[in-house]
Amino acid sequence: MCGIVGYIGKKNTKEILLSGLKELEYRGYDSAGIAILQNGVFSNFKAVGKLVNLEEKTKEFKTNDFAVGIGHTRWATHGKPTELNAHPHLGEHSYVVHNGIIENYAELKKELQAGGVTFLSQTDTEVIVHQFEKNMKVLKNSFEAFKKTLKELHGAYAILLVTKEQSDTIFFAKHGSPMIIGINEQNENYFASSDTPLIGHCKSVNYFEDGDYGYAKPNEIVIFDKTDTKKEAKLTPLSQNRLSAQKDGFRFFMEKEIYEQSSVISDTLMGRINDKEVIFEELSPTLFAGINEIKLCACGTSYHAAMSASYLFERYAKIKTSLEIASEFRYRDPIMTKDTLFVVISQSGETADTLETLKMAKAAGLKTLAICNVDNSSIVRLSDATILTRAGIEKGVASTKAFATQVSVFWMLSLYIARLKNSMSEDAIAAQISLLREVPAHVKVNDAMHERIKRLSKRYLHGHGFFFIGRDVFYPLALEGALKLKEISYLHAEGYPSGEMKHGPIALADPELFTIALLPKYLHYEKAKSNVEELSARDSTICAISQLEFDKADDFIQINECSHYMLEFFEMMVVLQLLALEISIRLGNDVDMPRNLAKSVTVE
Ligand code: M6R
Repeated sequence: MCGIVGYIGKKNTKEILLSGLKELEYRGYDSAGIAILQNGVFSNFKAVGKLVNLEEKTKEFKTNDFAVGIGHTRWATHGKPTELNAHPHLGEHSYVVHNGIIENYAELKKELQAGGVTFLSQTDTEVIVHQFEKNMKVLKNSFEAFKKTLKELHGAYAILLVTKEQSDTIFFAKHGSPMIIGINEQNENYFASSDTPLIGHCKSVNYFEDGDYGYAKPNEIVIFDKTDTKKEAKLTPLSQNRLSAQKDGFRFFMEKEIYEQSSVISDTLMGRINDKEVIFEELSPTLFAGINEIKLCACGTSYHAAMSASYLFERYAKIKTSLEIASEFRYRDPIMTKDTLFVVISQSGETADTLETLKMAKAAGLKTLAICNVDNSSIVRLSDATILTRAGIEKGVASTKAFATQVSVFWMLSLYIARLKNSMSEDAIAAQISLLREVPAHVKVNDAMHERIKRLSKRYLHGHGFFFIGRDVFYPLALEGALKLKEISYLHAEGYPSGEMKHGPIALADPELFTIALLPKYLHYEKAKSNVEELSARDSTICAISQLEFDKADDFIQINECSHYMLEFFEMMVVLQLLALEISIRLGNDVDMPRNLAKSVTVE
């Protein structure tokens, strides 16, 4: 979590830092800050809340000519979102910004306090700057002091540190949290947590590896790896296509992203299907050689996409598939056998828990595959193979189009494996491919439907909770519908398998319990309908979503006619996304930046 930027050069340092932070604000937005060192003098600004507050605070402040600056946008881990806890953190003559968690901060803090250091914040980060200055007093060399400090830190971090002792330099380190440096012909250096702040400033960048550390100053970048061996920067071209999304007339990015689903799914299918088969040029068929099981591992929405995949893989590819929540998998001593393909799913490619499971699978010698939306992300760089989801930049914290493209990829992948394993006839695969081609049309938002959901949403602003229910692949969709609603409306919502309601949750049924029922015509319709009738009989307020009329519901949202359950899946996905969006808007919430969340969860 959190976003970091840094700059060394002669341009308008303040503007460069602020515009970089703007691009990273999705990573955390409970406070932000910058520190700029110019002519031996530090200027430091911090503000609680969104970046606009920091912009306001720095309005009068100007930088000109050479300066060194660092900035941070925070998602609080240790300590409340206050100005004192906002980064950069100050020592006596140095500032630091950090993304990650210093696990041994309490011990270090105790020792530093015993040595007379006063702490201003409740953060783990502040120990870094004090530890650095303590080492500096002994070693009298900034880089050696920085290096020693890193050896004393346990945990995950991306760090930038500036000190008056070496006023043209930024010290950096990466261990478990992303960090990039960009260089250009004007000898400027740019640091950031991801590509976007560097677009337009640099044509090539170096992605630091875990364990890398060093320093940058005009005309010099010195990098060491985790074995303390000096290494060259490995420059990779940076795409100059600033897709920095604008809202294009939509009220929120989330809304725009729901409307974009048709075109991004077309992009995701493009070049990957013909009339008979699915072609993944990025995959070598040997990836599946000797594989008897697929293990899918992810968090949040990506986990729900993975759960949908588990139904498709077993049904079509006839391959044993298991499912893991990354944060659980990490710590449960799992059995990993080499005949398992380990698949991680992540929109951002930076989710700490998912990344860590990928490292575990690699260490156990498993073949790995990433389904990811961000090229060059940590997860992509670490996996043996990747299928990119081509959803484009997703800005809304509530994931929509990334989920749509993940499920599209999984549907394709189930057919790809089915062909490799001869588990489906050629005709059956061809029939599914022609259904896949219909998906972009089925996720197009129809004005009348959107209007109906907008009107309906006013009936669902209260109550004591929501149950989203579905069977089979509609169960993960129900989970996803509930997650969307709770993330942005702050109303309690749960996803449940329809058939499981009578095993406990039905006790909650009354008119103030809202049931959002997914009733696909082409998958277990009668069974799902009976489950809804059981809830209706107990007076739960029911909103049914189906292509078939259903008279036992209080509200009914009719989707377009579809010839297959997966098309019904995509139609219902859009309905659930719009319902969450409209309820959140009516409640007056910030749809794109809901409270307590961040777009990319880079802490465990
Ligand atoms: O970037 P990732 O797909 O790895 O992120 C995983 C979750 O943090 C993410 O899906 C989260 O649940 C979203 N806010 C859901 O809308």
